[in-house]
Amino acid sequence: MQQEKLKKEIFSKVIEYYKKFHKNKNLTKIPYAGRVYDEKEILNLIDASLEFWLTAGRWTLQFEKKLSDFLKIKHSLFVNSGSSANLLAFMTLTSPLLGKRAIKKGDEVITVAACFPTTISPIIQYGAKPVFVDIEIPQYNIDITKLKKAISKKTKAVFLAHTMGNPFDIKSIKEFCEKYNLWLIEDNCDSLGAMYKLNGKWQYTGTFGDIGTSSFYPAHHITTGEGGAVYTNNDLLYKIALSLRDWGRDCYCLPGRDNTCGHRFDKKYGKLPLGYDHKYVYSHFGYNLKATDLQAAIGCAQIDKLPEFIKKRNENWQYLRENLSDLSDILILPDKEKNLKPAWFGFLMTIKNKKIKRDEMIKYLEKNQIQTRMLFAGNIVRQPCFVNASKQKLYRISGNLENTDFVMNNSFWVGVYPGLKKTQIKKIVNKIKIFCRIGIHGHSK
Ligand SMILES: Cc1ncc(COP(=O)(O)O)c(C=O)c1O
Repeated sequence: MQQEKLKKEIFSKVIEYYKKFHKNKNLTKIPYAGRVYDEKEILNLIDASLEFWLTAGRWTLQFEKKLSDFLKIKHSLFVNSGSSANLLAFMTLTSPLLGKRAIKKGDEVITVAACFPTTISPIIQYGAKPVFVDIEIPQYNIDITKLKKAISKKTKAVFLAHTMGNPFDIKSIKEFCEKYNLWLIEDNCDSLGAMYKLNGKWQYTGTFGDIGTSSFYPAHHITTGEGGAVYTNNDLLYKIALSLRDWGRDCYCLPGRDNTCGHRFDKKYGKLPLGYDHKYVYSHFGYNLKATDLQAAIGCAQIDKLPEFIKKRNENWQYLRENLSDLSDILILPDKEKNLKPAWFGFLMTIKNKKIKRDEMIKYLEKNQIQTRMLFAGNIVRQPCFVNASKQKLYRISGNLENTDFVMNNSFWVGVYPGLKKTQIKKIVNKIKIFCRIGIHGHSK
């Protein structure tokens, strides 16, 4: 009783603190993204701190369940970042438990070079080979007409992100994967809550492939600070991912539990003595990619807000799309197709008029307190980390990367995150228009 009373007092002080020092913060900058939260996230965090469990515990289980319920998927695993989620998803597909279908060193994985680096890193780190296919503009997703040419005897998987919250052509990719018996990993880090209609049924992105991944870094659709998730409907992939996330262990006891399988001390594993404690049996060369209950507690409050966040993101995107449409002779504006509902991550534009220089436009916007971002790595094979990769034949390009290079040179994006105010979005439109006018007519107003 005394504990509950004290907790209540702490909570009411926290609410007071939130109202005084967090709510209605006025930012001079117009950020490309940011945390959107209220007292609920802070209260959950304080609640989890007072419990002081610290590692993955009841909040983590609750968050995983909430995420699975939202996505309508069987299994979710909370991890410490989106990059860890990609690593875990990819390494899951290398497990010996998958027999012939396991991805081996030297096998190929079809992907795009207009990407975030950690979609690619696990492939290279493991010793498999990314095969880069060009993208389409203005979808900025893989050009599926070029897929077939990319296949080889070594192809084992397709690993793609839904760029900027805009789903790739899931129908074609799925058919391709089924035809050639390939795994499909959906990097859903920038697209949580986007939907796609397949065979007349709407479904969330991240749930079409064998495994999906999320990032909960503050720029994303919901945040836990650092954090990410891996999800799947496949029981075996879940079992492997759980093992790899948790040190490679064979045991699947929930946090703080022992002997869930009822055979903790009576089985034979590998060449270990009979009855070796199952808690210390390792079926994989694993990691520890777990996040903490403190992060999960924030996630539990954030995920309740996700539908509203997506709505806001899409409204902001729509406003920019409508109000910049008269610049379509200068800018290639993003577009969406009928059989999908994006959950926009940002508003990505490509400058097509040679009189307008992308880098000058960005500098102008930044000078006017409007944050801008590139489409991540641009063309990843042109990044310093790839300097020696060509000589070492660490990757393959299928066809050419003409559009990818065009995007690297001419594209940039501004924010649509739910924390933006109408006045800020209006300012983005206004400044882009002014700059385009200066660029075309060569005079300033
Ligand atoms: C498509 C994509 N994948 C993976 C990541 C990595 O996520 P994290 O920053 O949580 O490691 C990001 C990060 O923004 C991303 O945009």
